[in-house]
Amino acid sequence: MMLPAQLLAFTLLVAPSLVSAGMFPKDSLVKMLDHKTFKQAMKKNETSLVAFVAPWCGHCQRMVPEYSKAALGMHPLVPAYAVNCHAEKNKRFCSEQGVQGFPTVKLFPRGDSLPPMLYDAERTSSNFFYFATRRIPKAVTKLYNVNEVPGWVSGNKNKHRALLLTKEKKMPLLWQVLGNKYSHTALAFASHRDKKGKSSIAMGYEAGGPKEPKVLIYPEGADKPMIYQGLHKLDSLTKFFDSVLDGTADLSEAFEKAKAEEFVEDPEEAEILKKQEAQRIALMHGGFTDLIDFEKAMLEGGANYHDSAGYGGMMGGIPEHLKKKDAAAESTVSMASTGMPATTTPPLTQAPEATERPKDEL
Ligand SMILES: *[C@@H]1O[C@H](CO)[C@@H](O)[C@H](O)[C@H]1NC(C)=O
Repeated sequence: MMLPAQLLAFTLLVAPSLVSAGMFPKDSLVKMLDHKTFKQAMKKNETSLVAFVAPWCGHCQRMVPEYSKAALGMHPLVPAYAVNCHAEKNKRFCSEQGVQGFPTVKLFPRGDSLPPMLYDAERTSSNFFYFATRRIPKAVTKLYNVNEVPGWVSGNKNKHRALLLTKEKKMPLLWQVLGNKYSHTALAFASHRDKKGKSSIAMGYEAGGPKEPKVLIYPEGADKPMIYQGLHKLDSLTKFFDSVLDGTADLSEAFEKAKAEEFVEDPEEAEILKKQEAQRIALMHGGFTDLIDFEKAMLEGGANYHDSAGYGGMMGGIPEHLKKKDAAAESTVSMASTGMPATTTPPLTQAPEATERPKDEL
């Protein structure tokens, strides 16, 4: 049985949305764009989905809950947007975008710097999720063996370099997203699977915890890396990389700043995380086949999307030195990190391992 609070969160999630002027329910993570905000969004060089819709169109209305679920699942790594083409101010923009029927959904693999792709699959949440997360342009060099690290480091010496040592089978979606966002900048990305920490040791570091990732930064021209000690989440890493690339910032200052950023719970993000978990709770209670598919999509297509504690897409947990020390804060952090009520103990973070995979992927 679902607890009332879970049920409520869940109902909010899947209830057929009212067709309001905004079309998408208030709590939906789908962000409405117009021709101006579209331009701004595209400047960020992110992979995103954009649905061109009209409020009167039945297929659009039926798509709303599915698209919203996908938006929730992909948050915050792959944004889902919508444009109301019925609005006078957007009509011209929609026709420029070649929209001839509703809904038209397009994937923009890298803002406006790569051509969009037309979404032509069935409009279910898991299809949206697969379609978007699998088409993030591959911009991260995979280093299968630790012996390949020095060659990659010296081969890209004229750039800053960011190397992820991950314990996970699949490259975290977060790292793919960052690699894509920063491709064509003076920052090169690589990833190496350091399953048990042996590579870390070979490189002179500690093995680290079972899921603990390491982000090593080789500043332009340097042979020796510095270790990034901030939070492994999208906004923190973006801020850090921007300041590294900016060039005006003192590099060691950027490292210090990242290291000092404590994990502060953002109530809005915590709420989103709870809803992300609600999809998984629903799965455990054995119903809602569409959610089962979606969960499968998350696990199989999502590059250990929900593997870790913290916010959606975060790699590993919260580094020890960034955890708040007092007990009250500690319990908040651990709630946020599981997103689960304390009474339920679903071992879902283990699901990816439990799923048999034919062979190791990096
Ligand atoms: C987006 O990528 C293009 C090259 O594809 C680059 O010229 C531009 O500066 C990038 N924008 C941002 C905000 O990084």
